Amino acid sequence: MSAVTDPKKRVAILISGRGSNMEALIAAAKAPDYPAQIVGVFSNKPDAGGLRTAATHGIATAWRWHKDYPSRTGFELALSDVLRLWRPDIIALAGFMRILTPEFTEKWKGRMINIHPSLLPKHRGLHTHEAVLAAGDKEHGCTVHFVSPGVDEGPTILQARVPVIPGDTPDSLAERILVEEHRIYPEALALVARGAATYTG
Ligand code: GRF
Repeated sequence: MSAVTDPKKRVAILISGRGSNMEALIAAAKAPDYPAQIVGVFSNKPDAGGLRTAATHGIATAWRWHKDYPSRTGFELALSDVLRLWRPDIIALAGFMRILTPEFTEKWKGRMINIHPSLLPKHRGLHTHEAVLAAGDKEHGCTVHFVSPGVDEGPTILQARVPVIPGDTPDSLAERILVEEHRIYPEALALVARGAATYTG
């Protein structure tokens, strides 16, 4: 009797910049037993470095500059047109710097994940490394979570912790956290793709 193999889940990655987390997902997805495949990389910025990187891996890319659209909804309609072509099961936000409307997040509820460089619910928003130092925190980290309408909210899938060391700067923290981001994001995506992590727990 032969085992029935589940088809790999189709994943679209949304970026705005260099895309190092995107690259970690692409690398993980090359393993034959990884439960997801990357079907496209989308950016809201035409000059995002990650678009070139994705193309060198032979992955479809697209961009729509958000400034070309009069509203968030208009931009998201253009994004949805691209997604209709790629037919993703899951969206992975990887340094995607646009706030998404509640309508969009609701549509993708349980199927859209994000990585944030803090131990959520601590330090939502930007400049998390500065915030950790200003607060005198003893530890820092990163979180992969399902996306909900609130910015940097939604159920946690995985977290990684690192110590804050005397003499740390925002740059040294960012570097230490990024290593952990690249480790846990592929793990978290695999959990979601396998159905082992769901929005409700
Ligand atoms: C990462 O620190 C991620 O956690 C945050 O933005 C940064 C993006 O880096 N949301 P990269 O584009 O993945 O290299």
